[in-house]
Amino acid sequence: MAEICGWNYKLYKTLGSTNDEARKYCLEPDKKTIIRAQTQTSGRGRKGRSWISLDGNLFFSLAFEFEIKKFGLLVLISALSIAQTLEKSSSANDIKLKWPNDVLLNNKKISGILIEKGEGNYMIVGIGVNIVASPQNDDILYPTTSLAQNSIHCNADDFLQKFMTEFEKNLALIAENKNEYLRKEWLNRASNLGKPIIIRGEKNDEAGIFAGIDENMCLLLKQGNEIKKILVGDVFFAKEQPNAGI
Ligand code: BTN
Repeated sequence: MAEICGWNYKLYKTLGSTNDEARKYCLEPDKKTIIRAQTQTSGRGRKGRSWISLDGNLFFSLAFEFEIKKFGLLVLISALSIAQTLEKSSSANDIKLKWPNDVLLNNKKISGILIEKGEGNYMIVGIGVNIVASPQNDDILYPTTSLAQNSIHCNADDFLQKFMTEFEKNLALIAENKNEYLRKEWLNRASNLGKPIIIRGEKNDEAGIFAGIDENMCLLLKQGNEIKKILVGDVFFAKEQPNAGI
C-alpha cells in the first residue's frame, strides 16, 4: 500500500463517503489509514447536511487510534492543520478559523471537517477542501469559496501531503501535552474573536460576545457578566443573519 507521512494511503476514483470507507480500517490495532476519493456520491457534513463533492476538490478521511476524551483537541488540530497548510503553501493571508471546525479564506468557507467515532479507540477525521470549485446548495449555511477562486493554484496531492506533515506535528504536540500552546494557536486565527455572534443551537439562538474557547474546545459566550459554555451549534457573525432554509 502507498504511504504518506507513515500513514497507509488509499486513493479511490469514487466512493459514497470517505468516512464510511475509513470506518472499515478501524479494526486492527496500530493502523493509521488515509482514505481519499476523487469524488463522493454521498459526501456528508455536520448535522446530516450533504457535502457536494466535485472532481478536483480534495476529500479524505483519516482513521487512527485516538483517545475519545481528547476529542476537543482533535477538532482543534484538524482545523488548525488546514489553516497552517494554507499559510505555508499559498500566498493567502486572510485565513481564519470558525468554531467549531470550519476554515475560512477571505471570510468564506474553504474547508469543512466531520469527525466521527470509529470502532474501539479509533476516530475518523473527514476533511473536504475546495481546491478548484465551491459548491453551492440549499443546505449550505455559510458562503463558500475555493483556492482557484482566490487565484491560488495548488494541487490536491500537494495539499494532502503538506496537511499530513502539519497534522503529524500537531499530534506530537498533543502527545507532549502542549494543549495550551495549541489552544493559543487556534485563538490567534479565530474569526470574530471579541465580537458579537449568534449561536444557532438545536432549540434556540443565543447571542453574545465570542470570548474564546476553553481547554475542551467549548465556545465561551459572554452574556452580560456571565460566560456561558457552548458545546454544539452553528456560529453566525452578528452582521450575518441565519437565513431560512438552514
Ligand atoms: C462540514 O463542514 O459540515 C463538514 C464537511 C466534511 C466533508 C468531508 S469530505 C471527506 C469526508 N467524507 C464525508 O462524507 N465528509 C467528509
